[in-house]
Amino acid sequence: ENTFDIAVIGGDGIGPEVVAEARKVLDAALASESAEFTYTEYSLGAEHWLTTGETLTEETLQALRGHDAILFGAVGADPLDTRVPSGIIERELLLGLRFNLDHCVNLRPTRSYPGVVSPLRGVDEANPIDFLVVREGTEGPYAGNGGLLRRGTDAEIATEVSVNTAYGVRRVVEDAFHRAQARDKHLTLVHKNNVLTYSGDLWTRTTAAVAESFPEVRWDYLHVDAATIHMVSNPQRFDVIVTDNLFGDILTDLAPAITGGIGLAASASINTAGTAPSMFEPVHGSAPDIAGKAIADPTAAVLSAVLMLDHLGLGDAAARVETAVHAQLNQWAQDGASGLSTSQRGDAFVARLNR
Ligand code: NAD
Ligand code: IPM
Ligand code: MN
Repeated sequence: ENTFDIAVIGGDGIGPEVVAEARKVLDAALASESAEFTYTEYSLGAEHWLTTGETLTEETLQALRGHDAILFGAVGADPLDTRVPSGIIERELLLGLRFNLDHCVNLRPTRSYPGVVSPLRGVDEANPIDFLVVREGTEGPYAGNGGLLRRGTDAEIATEVSVNTAYGVRRVVEDAFHRAQARDKHLTLVHKNNVLTYSGDLWTRTTAAVAESFPEVRWDYLHVDAATIHMVSNPQRFDVIVTDNLFGDILTDLAPAITGGIGLAASASINTAGTAPSMFEPVHGSAPDIAGKAIADPTAAVLSAVLMLDHLGLGDAAARVETAVHAQLNQWAQDGASGLSTSQRGDAFVARLNR
């Protein structure tokens, strides 16, 4: 029997609520497989910081390294909660995990679902949206130094540096080409090389150079501002998008907004070298506005668990869960799901899986 050792970080707000449903679905999916998951829960996040003063200790990081994968909910406080300084949880914990575990590829798939209404015209089963954002995960403005001089004066200066290394750009671009090769063979580089000329040049040259090893993949380029137009007016033009950490963050909140909502958006933070566990997390955050009400949509967490199953080589289980989720979303699109609680949604996925 194949046993996988999974770390679980529920986090804050709706994080633990949606992760509980993902685990329910995972257990149901594995019941008919010769694989078993053991789970170890880690208490981390804003609440944990408020009680312990710790974001991510070296000890916790070491313990996490020993797992096969990390199932992650969401972390972060209500932006209006003045007890928690802005950015401390995000930078020290979430980015601390992505950077230390070298999650260089942040995969964020987007697709339209049969029956689920997109706010866009012209999206239907015959003309679906289906693209994958390959977001760089360890560099860009997220990783650079910054500074604040003369705070609070009229002469204040704030800087944020974007870090782009040849190594970092090349590995994410190569990964994206491989994925495009396995999909519809179309890659779009998104950047802002008309203004960010230093990093833009590095990204553009790297993409052109890597493209030579992938003659079957057609590639093109869009400035990020124009990419937002295309994403709304003609999202079917995209297959794989490769982009920097910050542009990728923004585009992948827009992407689910055109297909069915942030509650459906899954992601995987991948260590492509296999030197540390990868992490599977919804795109959304802790949603303080709906936390504790048992109304959060667990679909994004469940679909992130699907990415985890795939990553662990459990492709059959992944496909079964994905099919069940799609069928259930379609059913809800007919019947309406507005009154359903978070756990009722999880139960419905499980029931669908067991049919
Ligand atoms: P958010 O994603 O938490 O919420 C944005 C909006 O989407 C809210 O109206 C929320 O109710 C809604 N929403 C999000 N997930 C939903 C779900 N599953 N079902 C239904 N509705 C959902 O973003 P925010 O409000 O900008 O951030 C809140 C906190 O989360 C902040 O502290 C932020 O730093 C943190 N954050 C964490 C992560 C993460 O852990 N990966 C990601 C984004 C934001
Ligand atoms: C995300 C989040 C994070 C990011 C924040 C909370 C650090 O918005 O996962 O999309 O910007 O990457
Ligand atoms: Mn984001």
